[in-house]
Formats: sequence, structure tokens, C-alpha cells
Amino acid sequence: MSTTILAIESSCDETAAAVVTDGKLVKSNTIYSQIDLHTRYGGVVPEIASRKHVEKINQVIRTSMEDANATWDDIDAIAVTYGPGLVGALLVGVSAAKALAFAKGKPLVGVHHIEGHIAANYIENDDLKPPFMCMVASGGHSHLVYVKDYNLFEVVGRTRDDAAGEAFDKIARAIGLGYPGGPKVDKLAKEGDPSAIMFPRAFMEDAIYDFSFSGLKSAVLNYLNGCEMKHIEINRADVAASFQQAVVDVLTDNSVRAAKDYGCNRLALAGGVAANSSLRAAMREACEREQIAFYHPSPGLCTDNAAMIGVAGYHAYMSGVRHSWDLNAVPNLGIGERR
Ligand code: KG4
Ligand code: ZN
Repeated sequence: MSTTILAIESSCDETAAAVVTDGKLVKSNTIYSQIDLHTRYGGVVPEIASRKHVEKINQVIRTSMEDANATWDDIDAIAVTYGPGLVGALLVGVSAAKALAFAKGKPLVGVHHIEGHIAANYIENDDLKPPFMCMVASGGHSHLVYVKDYNLFEVVGRTRDDAAGEAFDKIARAIGLGYPGGPKVDKLAKEGDPSAIMFPRAFMEDAIYDFSFSGLKSAVLNYLNGCEMKHIEINRADVAASFQQAVVDVLTDNSVRAAKDYGCNRLALAGGVAANSSLRAAMREACEREQIAFYHPSPGLCTDNAAMIGVAGYHAYMSGVRHSWDLNAVPNLGIGERR
């Protein structure tokens, strides 16, 4: 007997729904991206995001059911992201999921957004099973997570300030690339020299797996200001490549060190920044050197989507997680925390 989950995700600026069977088989993965809407503001405007989710959610859910050729009889449970994220945005998905679960008589399963990002790795990697170390680097979060089991997580490191994706977005804005910055920096960096400018790499002495990107961000901004004041022409590709290299070095070094210290022979990447070509290459190389198996989702499953929520939702559902009609959005939900 198979188990099929309808999953809903609306924590930031993508309205998404998916139908996933047995935590692996993605029957549909519908995403309405609001990126174009937020680009002119240089970042996500929460109020606009919530309003657009309200407008799109029913259509996105309907499309995902149609694409999967699924009827309500095929659906065993409804999974929804309930945190962390923008509260108004989360509430739209949570309300839709509750309404559907109630109307169709289906169990409701709340899912942690970051646990969803981690679970995206199970979709295409048949041999990946816990325990493993996972570096989750997205626009809102950067965590190094020891995945002990499908539903058991230990945060071993975190950013002290900016998330990695946030740093990419800010630097992209400073060199005039626009939002979202990650993919644009990634592309431009291919034309630049990663060793052209020596930007700082911050390693924490008191918590050895933590990281920080605010010093790096300031160093890049100071470099740009300095060039402007001295009327030196800026080589944007070199800035992009050198900045990216600094982020990649810190993320790679921390995750490989943690994997070794925790005795993990598997290391995975997750979150929007996991789509970064330079980060993947550096991780792959370091893992090969250390004889650690390296995993990552394909680019479309790194950034926000509902298929990953369907996978995490499946594992939560199988372990007995059920939420009641009082499920609320929890904007600051911690990893491994259940409410
Ligand atoms: O996981 P995600 O879609 O949303 C959050 O949960 O935050 O991540 C979005 C972030 C953005 O900051 C975006 O700039 C970054 O991921 N990103 C990238 C790349 N693609 C997306 N960063 C670096 N290189 C990329 N190729
Ligand atoms: Zn995300």
C-alpha cells in the first residue's frame, strides 16, 4: 500500500503545491514564483507576498492535483509548511491546508520548512539515508544540521548574523545585479578570478561550526566604496568570484569538518544556495578527498518548492505526527521543534 501526500508551501515568495507518493515519487510539483513582483523592490515585500499567495493558492493546489492525475481518494494526508517564514505568507498555506483537510476528512501534518529543504535530498538520491550531516544554506537560514534520523535533528552550527543567501543577495545589489542575487553572482563569478581580492573568512573560536557573513559583507562594501573614492574601475566579475569563494570556503570547511568530527560518511547540501555551482564543486572535491559521500538536490529542488514538503511530510506522517485545527503559523519555529 502506498501513501500519497498533498503538500503545500507558502513560507516566502513561492506559492507551491505538490503530490508525492511514499516520500520519493514526485507526481506533481507546481510552483508559482512571485520573484518578478518583488524584483522592483530589491527583495521580498511581506505584505505583497501574502496577498499574492491568497490570489494563487487555490489555483496552484488544483493544478498540482490535475498534474498528478490525483483524486481526493488518492490523498492520504495534507502536509503544510507552518514555519519558519513570513507569518502572513505562512498563514495562507496553513489556512488552505486546514480548510481542505477539514472538508475532505484528511489528516493534517505541519512541516518545518528547513526539514523540507533537507528532505529534498531524498528525492533523487536513492542511497541517502540518515544519519548524515547537512549544510542548509538558504535566503533566510544557514544551519549545519546533524540528521540523526528522518525526524530527528541536531543543529551543530549556525550563522551568527546573515544567512548565506542573504549575503549573496546583498552583494548582488551592491554590484548592481538585482534580486535574487544568488544565481546572478553565480553566473558572473564564472567570468571572474576568485583569488583577485582577498576577502575575510570568519571562523568562530567559541563555537567551531558556527559561521558569520556580516564581516565579509562589510569588507566587500568597503572595497567597492574605496574603489569609487579612488576612481578605480571595479571589475564586478572579480568581486563576485572573490566574494563567492569566501562564502564557499567557510561553508565547505565547516561542513566537512563537522561531518568528520561526528563520524558521518555522508554530507548533503540543501536550500537555495545549494544550487551554487562553485559551492557544489568545492564540496564535491573536499568530500572526495575525505572519502565522504556527497549529495545535493538538483537546482529546482534546492530553492523553495512543495515536493520537499511532501517528502518531509511523508516521514512525519509515518512517524505519527498529526496536527489539529488549531495549527498556527510559527515564524520562528526552531529545527527539530514541534508545536
Ligand atoms: O531556499 P530558498 O529558495 O528560500 C529560502 O528559504 O530562503 O533560497 C533562496 C536563496 C536566495 O537568497 C538566493 O539568492 C539563493 O538562495 N540562491 C543562490 C543560488 N540560487 C539561489 N545563491 C547562490 N548561488 C545560486 N546559484
Ligand atoms: Zn527555503
